[in-house]
Amino acid sequence: MRRAGRATAATLHAACAQIRPGMRLDAIDAFVARDVAARGARSSVLGYEVAGAPPFPGHCCTSRNEVVCHGIPDATELQEGDIVNVDITTELGGWHGDTSRTVHVGTPSPEAAHLVQTTERALAAGIAAVRPGAPLGAIGAAIEAVVRPLGCTLVREFGGHGIGRAMHQPPHVHHVRVPGPSPTLWPGMCFTIEPMVCLGRPEIRMLDDGWTVVTADGRWSAQAEHTVCVTDDGVEILTHRP
Ligand code: MF3
Ligand code: CO
Ligand code: CO
Repeated sequence: MRRAGRATAATLHAACAQIRPGMRLDAIDAFVARDVAARGARSSVLGYEVAGAPPFPGHCCTSRNEVVCHGIPDATELQEGDIVNVDITTELGGWHGDTSRTVHVGTPSPEAAHLVQTTERALAAGIAAVRPGAPLGAIGAAIEAVVRPLGCTLVREFGGHGIGRAMHQPPHVHHVRVPGPSPTLWPGMCFTIEPMVCLGRPEIRMLDDGWTVVTADGRWSAQAEHTVCVTDDGVEILTHRP
Protein backbone atom coordinates (compact mmCIF):
# COMPACT_ATOMS: atom_id res chain seq x y z
CA MET A 1 0.00 0.00 0.00
CA ARG A 2 2.92 2.37 0.70
CA ARG A 3 4.48 1.69 -2.69
CA ALA A 4 1.15 2.09 -4.51
CA GLY A 5 0.35 5.24 -2.56
CA ARG A 6 3.75 6.80 -3.27
CA ALA A 7 3.51 6.09 -7.00
CA THR A 8 -0.03 7.51 -7.19
CA ALA A 9 1.03 10.64 -5.31
CA ALA A 10 4.02 11.13 -7.59
CA THR A 11 1.80 10.96 -10.68
CA LEU A 12 -0.62 13.51 -9.18
CA HIS A 13 2.29 15.82 -8.34
CA ALA A 14 3.73 15.57 -11.85
CA ALA A 15 0.34 16.03 -13.55
CA CYS A 16 -0.56 19.12 -11.53
CA ALA A 17 2.80 20.69 -12.38
CA GLN A 18 1.78 20.61 -16.08
CA ILE A 19 -1.43 22.59 -15.63
CA ARG A 20 -1.66 26.05 -17.23
CA PRO A 21 -4.23 28.18 -19.04
CA GLY A 22 -5.07 26.76 -22.49
CA MET A 23 -4.30 23.16 -21.53
CA ARG A 24 -6.96 20.65 -22.49
CA LEU A 25 -8.29 18.13 -19.97
CA ASP A 26 -7.45 15.28 -22.36
CA ALA A 27 -3.84 16.50 -22.40
CA ILE A 28 -3.74 16.03 -18.62
CA ASP A 29 -5.09 12.53 -19.21
CA ALA A 30 -2.44 11.73 -21.83
CA PHE A 31 0.27 12.91 -19.42
CA VAL A 32 -1.18 10.75 -16.64
CA ALA A 33 -1.33 7.70 -18.93
CA ARG A 34 2.39 8.02 -19.73
CA ASP A 35 3.45 8.79 -16.16
CA VAL A 36 1.49 5.88 -14.68
CA ALA A 37 3.03 3.47 -17.19
CA ALA A 38 6.54 4.84 -16.52
CA ARG A 39 6.10 3.89 -12.85
CA GLY A 40 5.09 0.33 -13.73
CA ALA A 41 1.58 1.03 -12.45
CA ARG A 42 -1.85 0.81 -14.08
CA SER A 43 -4.81 3.21 -14.00
CA SER A 44 -7.54 1.81 -11.75
CA VAL A 45 -10.23 3.96 -13.39
CA LEU A 46 -9.68 3.35 -17.13
CA GLY A 47 -12.53 1.04 -18.16
CA TYR A 48 -13.99 1.06 -14.64
CA GLU A 49 -17.60 -0.10 -14.71
CA VAL A 50 -20.60 0.69 -12.56
CA ALA A 51 -24.21 -0.15 -13.31
CA GLY A 52 -25.96 2.25 -15.66
CA ALA A 53 -22.88 3.90 -17.17
CA PRO A 54 -20.44 3.09 -19.98
CA PRO A 55 -16.91 2.06 -18.88
CA PHE A 56 -14.97 5.13 -17.65
CA PRO A 57 -13.00 6.46 -20.66
CA GLY A 58 -10.13 8.28 -18.90
CA HIS A 59 -6.95 7.34 -17.02
CA CYS A 60 -7.92 9.86 -14.33
CA CYS A 61 -10.79 12.17 -13.42
CA THR A 62 -10.57 15.90 -14.21
CA SER A 63 -13.30 17.93 -12.50
CA ARG A 64 -13.41 21.63 -13.43
CA ASN A 65 -15.29 24.49 -11.69
CA GLU A 66 -18.91 23.33 -11.11
CA VAL A 67 -17.95 19.67 -11.69
CA VAL A 68 -17.96 18.00 -8.27
CA CYS A 69 -16.23 14.74 -9.20
CA HIS A 70 -15.76 12.03 -11.87
CA GLY A 71 -15.22 14.58 -14.64
CA ILE A 72 -14.22 12.92 -17.92
CA PRO A 73 -10.98 14.28 -19.44
CA ASP A 74 -12.28 15.75 -22.72
CA ALA A 75 -11.29 18.50 -25.16
CA THR A 76 -12.30 21.29 -22.74
CA GLU A 77 -9.58 23.97 -22.49
CA LEU A 78 -8.67 25.30 -19.07
CA GLN A 79 -9.13 29.07 -18.73
CA GLU A 80 -7.30 31.57 -16.54
CA GLY A 81 -8.96 31.56 -13.10
CA ASP A 82 -10.52 28.07 -13.40
CA ILE A 83 -10.10 25.44 -10.72
CA VAL A 84 -9.58 21.79 -11.65
CA ASN A 85 -9.44 18.67 -9.52
CA VAL A 86 -7.18 15.92 -10.79
CA ASP A 87 -8.01 12.54 -9.22
CA ILE A 88 -5.53 9.71 -9.75
CA THR A 89 -6.11 6.09 -8.77
CA THR A 90 -3.48 3.53 -9.70
CA GLU A 91 -2.67 -0.08 -8.96
CA LEU A 92 0.88 -1.22 -8.34
CA GLY A 93 1.80 -4.76 -7.33
CA GLY A 94 -1.85 -5.62 -6.75
CA TRP A 95 -2.57 -2.70 -4.39
CA HIS A 96 -4.34 0.58 -5.08
CA GLY A 97 -3.62 4.21 -4.16
CA ASP A 98 -6.16 7.02 -4.64
CA THR A 99 -5.45 10.73 -4.29
CA SER A 100 -6.59 14.06 -5.68
CA ARG A 101 -6.13 17.78 -5.32
CA THR A 102 -7.72 20.88 -6.76
CA VAL A 103 -5.40 23.40 -8.41
CA HIS A 104 -5.87 26.95 -9.63
CA VAL A 105 -5.32 27.71 -13.29
CA GLY A 106 -3.39 30.98 -13.32
CA THR A 107 -4.37 33.52 -10.67
CA PRO A 108 -7.32 32.58 -8.43
CA SER A 109 -10.22 34.85 -7.54
CA PRO A 110 -10.56 35.40 -3.76
CA GLU A 111 -13.66 33.16 -3.82
CA ALA A 112 -11.86 30.31 -5.61
CA ALA A 113 -8.91 30.64 -3.25
CA HIS A 114 -11.27 30.40 -0.25
CA LEU A 115 -12.96 27.30 -1.68
CA VAL A 116 -9.71 25.45 -2.34
CA GLN A 117 -8.23 26.44 1.01
CA THR A 118 -11.38 25.31 2.83
CA THR A 119 -11.23 21.97 1.01
CA GLU A 120 -7.61 21.42 2.05
CA ARG A 121 -8.48 22.29 5.65
CA ALA A 122 -11.40 19.86 5.51
CA LEU A 123 -9.17 17.00 4.39
CA ALA A 124 -6.55 17.85 7.03
CA ALA A 125 -9.23 17.88 9.76
CA GLY A 126 -10.57 14.51 8.60
CA ILE A 127 -7.10 12.97 8.64
CA ALA A 128 -6.41 14.44 12.11
CA ALA A 129 -9.46 12.56 13.46
CA VAL A 130 -7.96 9.17 12.51
CA ARG A 131 -6.41 7.10 15.31
CA PRO A 132 -6.93 3.56 16.60
CA GLY A 133 -9.97 3.30 18.85
CA ALA A 134 -11.69 6.37 17.39
CA PRO A 135 -15.04 5.94 15.67
CA LEU A 136 -15.04 6.15 11.85
CA GLY A 137 -17.77 8.79 12.24
CA ALA A 138 -15.30 11.15 13.95
CA ILE A 139 -13.87 11.91 10.49
CA GLY A 140 -17.09 13.35 9.05
CA ALA A 141 -17.83 15.23 12.25
CA ALA A 142 -14.38 16.85 12.18
CA ILE A 143 -14.73 17.81 8.51
CA GLU A 144 -18.17 19.35 9.01
CA ALA A 145 -16.94 21.30 12.06
CA VAL A 146 -14.26 22.95 9.89
CA VAL A 147 -16.27 23.59 6.71
CA ARG A 148 -19.49 25.05 8.14
CA PRO A 149 -17.94 28.06 9.96
CA LEU A 150 -16.03 28.88 6.76
CA GLY A 151 -19.36 29.32 4.94
CA CYS A 152 -19.04 26.38 2.56
CA THR A 153 -21.15 23.19 2.22
CA LEU A 154 -20.38 19.47 1.87
CA VAL A 155 -21.68 17.03 -0.74
CA ARG A 156 -23.49 14.20 1.06
CA GLU A 157 -24.01 11.65 -1.74
CA PHE A 158 -20.35 10.60 -2.09
CA GLY A 159 -17.81 9.62 0.54
CA GLY A 160 -14.43 8.08 1.05
CA HIS A 161 -14.01 4.33 0.88
CA GLY A 162 -11.94 1.42 2.03
CA ILE A 163 -9.10 0.63 -0.39
CA GLY A 164 -6.62 -2.20 -0.78
CA ARG A 165 -6.58 -4.93 -3.40
CA ALA A 166 -9.61 -3.18 -4.93
CA MET A 167 -10.10 0.56 -5.48
CA HIS A 168 -13.47 0.67 -3.76
CA GLN A 169 -14.13 -1.42 -0.65
CA PRO A 170 -16.17 -1.01 2.54
CA PRO A 171 -16.40 0.99 4.70
CA HIS A 172 -18.10 4.11 3.37
CA VAL A 173 -16.44 7.18 4.91
CA HIS A 174 -18.88 10.04 5.48
CA HIS A 175 -17.69 13.63 5.15
CA VAL A 176 -20.47 14.97 7.38
CA ARG A 177 -21.64 14.16 10.89
CA VAL A 178 -24.01 11.20 10.90
CA PRO A 179 -25.92 10.40 14.11
CA GLY A 180 -25.50 6.94 15.64
CA PRO A 181 -22.66 4.49 16.11
CA SER A 182 -19.95 3.72 13.55
CA PRO A 183 -17.17 1.12 13.27
CA THR A 184 -14.09 1.54 15.47
CA LEU A 185 -10.84 2.33 13.65
CA TRP A 186 -8.16 -0.31 13.98
CA PRO A 187 -4.44 -0.39 13.05
CA GLY A 188 -3.96 -1.55 9.47
CA MET A 189 -7.27 -0.26 8.13
CA CYS A 190 -6.76 1.64 4.87
CA PHE A 191 -9.34 4.04 3.43
CA THR A 192 -9.66 7.34 1.61
CA ILE A 193 -10.90 10.70 2.85
CA GLU A 194 -12.04 12.93 -0.03
CA PRO A 195 -14.38 15.78 0.92
CA MET A 196 -16.23 17.61 -1.86
CA VAL A 197 -16.78 21.22 -0.76
CA CYS A 198 -19.15 23.71 -2.42
CA LEU A 199 -19.45 27.51 -2.45
CA GLY A 200 -23.23 27.29 -2.88
CA ARG A 201 -25.79 24.58 -2.22
CA PRO A 202 -24.48 21.00 -1.86
CA GLU A 203 -27.12 19.32 -4.05
CA ILE A 204 -25.76 17.54 -7.11
CA ARG A 205 -26.88 16.40 -10.54
CA MET A 206 -25.43 13.75 -12.89
CA LEU A 207 -24.85 14.60 -16.54
CA ASP A 208 -26.17 12.34 -19.32
CA ASP A 209 -22.70 10.80 -19.82
CA GLY A 210 -23.40 8.76 -16.67
CA TRP A 211 -20.23 9.97 -14.87
CA THR A 212 -19.91 13.73 -14.57
CA VAL A 213 -21.33 15.00 -11.26
CA VAL A 214 -22.06 18.75 -11.14
CA THR A 215 -23.55 21.08 -8.54
CA ALA A 216 -27.28 21.60 -9.12
CA ASP A 217 -26.87 25.38 -8.69
CA GLY A 218 -23.84 25.62 -10.99
CA ARG A 219 -21.58 27.18 -8.35
CA TRP A 220 -18.03 25.84 -7.98
CA SER A 221 -16.96 22.80 -5.99
CA ALA A 222 -13.51 21.53 -5.00
CA GLN A 223 -12.17 18.23 -3.69
CA ALA A 224 -9.03 16.86 -2.08
CA GLU A 225 -8.25 13.20 -1.33
CA HIS A 226 -5.68 11.09 0.43
CA THR A 227 -5.38 7.37 1.05
CA VAL A 228 -4.58 6.85 4.74
CA CYS A 229 -3.73 3.92 6.99
CA VAL A 230 -4.55 3.64 10.69
CA THR A 231 -1.32 3.00 12.62
CA ASP A 232 -0.67 1.77 16.17
CA ASP A 233 -0.62 5.34 17.43
CA GLY A 234 -2.31 7.49 14.80
CA VAL A 235 -2.44 7.76 11.04
CA GLU A 236 -0.10 7.47 8.07
CA ILE A 237 -0.81 9.32 4.81
CA LEU A 238 0.03 6.76 2.14
CA THR A 239 -0.34 9.26 -0.72
CA HIS A 240 1.91 11.96 0.73
CA ARG A 241 3.29 14.00 -2.19
CA PRO A 242 7.03 14.41 -2.85
N1 MF3 B 1 -10.87 8.26 -7.83
C1 MF3 B 1 -12.30 8.19 -7.57
C2 MF3 B 1 -12.47 8.04 -6.08
O1 MF3 B 1 -11.91 8.81 -5.37
C3 MF3 B 1 -12.94 7.08 -8.31
C4 MF3 B 1 -13.30 7.45 -9.68
S1 MF3 B 1 -14.11 6.18 -10.45
C5 MF3 B 1 -14.24 6.73 -12.02
O2 MF3 B 1 -13.10 7.19 -5.56
F1 MF3 B 1 -14.55 5.72 -12.74
F2 MF3 B 1 -15.08 7.73 -12.07
F3 MF3 B 1 -13.07 7.19 -12.43
CO1 CO C 1 -11.46 7.67 -3.69
CO1 CO D 1 -10.02 9.40 -6.14
